[in-house]
Amino acid sequence: MTVIEPMVPADAAGCARLERVLFPGDGPWPEDAFLEELRSPHVRYRVVRDDDGVVGYAGIALLGTGSGAEAEIHTIGVDPSAQRRGIGRALLTDALAAADAHGGPVFLEVRTDNEAALALYRSTGFEIVGTRRNYYRPSGADAYTMRREPGGRTQTEGMSS
Ligand SMILES: CC(C)(COP(=O)(O)OP(=O)(O)OC[C@H]1O[C@@H](n2cnc3c(N)ncnc32)[C@H](O)[C@@H]1OP(=O)(O)O)[C@@H](O)C(=O)NCCC(=O)NCCS
Repeated sequence: MTVIEPMVPADAAGCARLERVLFPGDGPWPEDAFLEELRSPHVRYRVVRDDDGVVGYAGIALLGTGSGAEAEIHTIGVDPSAQRRGIGRALLTDALAAADAHGGPVFLEVRTDNEAALALYRSTGFEIVGTRRNYYRPSGADAYTMRREPGGRTQTEGMSS
């Protein structure tokens, strides 16, 4: 069973270690970046742990209120040795439930060649809405901006309701 728990400062070093493995050329976040995120009032982080520590993590910012409400996925990652077991989907589903409770659309950036993440995001209602050239540093890789309508409905449904 996948148990999702709030991230605490003691998890930051483990998350930074995973970032170095998962995002080697794309500016992996150091421990301090996670600690700073945890101090932000609008950001919500969750982790999945095993006996050795963090194996998955996800962070989402819940921004604005009312008609200006929106959310942004800041990061999500799963230890390579624990991938394809449903942990990434569980973390994303949990973050999206928080976004739906907050209200508004959800945005994220993802490398254009990240097939695994693109498949996961598409399957949870995200659609590509733009491309950002040279978004990642130092790799220079391009990113897609993706958007998910509130509740995961399609944009067409959103317009007709
Ligand atoms: C993207 C990531 C978080 C998915 O985590 P995961 O725990 O392996 O994902 P899950 O097992 O929950 O799989 C969820 C879905 O993701 C997609 N997926 C995951 N790995 C995939 C792969 N290697 N190839 C294609 N699709 C894949 C599938 O759609 C899968 O659904 P399915 O199992 O019903 O086919 C993980 O691959 C990862 O950490 N990647 C490196 C970091 C990263 O790219 N983060 C996103 C940055 S925007």
